[in-house]
Amino acid sequence: MKIVKSVAELRALPESRSVGFVPTMGALHDGHLSLVRKARAENERVVVSIFVNPAQFNDPEDLRRYPRPIEKDLAMLARENTDVAFLPIHDEIYGDRFRFEVREKEFTKMLCGATRPGHFEGVLTVVMKLFCLVRPTRAYFGEKDFQQLSLIRDMAKSFFLGVDVIGVPTVREADGLAMSSRNLLLKSEEREIAPRLYQIIKTAADAGVARRELSTLGFRVDYVEDVAGRRFAAAFLGSVRLIDNVEL
Ligand code: PAF
Repeated sequence: MKIVKSVAELRALPESRSVGFVPTMGALHDGHLSLVRKARAENERVVVSIFVNPAQFNDPEDLRRYPRPIEKDLAMLARENTDVAFLPIHDEIYGDRFRFEVREKEFTKMLCGATRPGHFEGVLTVVMKLFCLVRPTRAYFGEKDFQQLSLIRDMAKSFFLGVDVIGVPTVREADGLAMSSRNLLLKSEEREIAPRLYQIIKTAADAGVARRELSTLGFRVDYVEDVAGRRFAAAFLGSVRLIDNVEL
């Protein structure tokens, strides 16, 4: 596996018939690996980026404590036969000092966008930059972040990027908790009730019932909403924000 940091090194890679790209912020788990495996099965070259993108964190404390186990991540990627691990340099990615950004004006106002101002602008901007650098044939995103997946798919279409944006089903722990890098931050008593988020949004009669059941259990509910045939939820346990969604 080649570890590439600079834009110049990335540009110097030989052409490839197809490039499968998995953008990540590291702290990799089986959910990420399912994306890498799908990319591996469908492309000649697999590129995985690890970049904790400051532009998408609206809470500086959340950015500060985001897990960064880089050596472990690289070992996991090497085991999956990743060809290129791209670890971009902050000042190269944001050489423009955030002068330019990608903005969407409808879906980013709802769900996670309503309570995390600037979050999706940060996500769309960095993904656009990464797409321009990596020039993937296909890019892979988890359905746990369904709103993100849908926005990136629409962005690729709107800007004629020619990238096939592929959604991959959420990978869950045995008790149903959606895998997430933030799960590492849960205290043991929080980890015990965390799987109820999935169970409740799957079974509650409507979003209001789900909100009440979650609050009773001790979740601080950000939102539970039914949109376009899916139920989306975000809720805090302590200071950890969990999200999930199910098809209705
Ligand atoms: O889903 C993530 O890990 C991030 O939002 C992404 C897509 C890598 C952009 O920073």
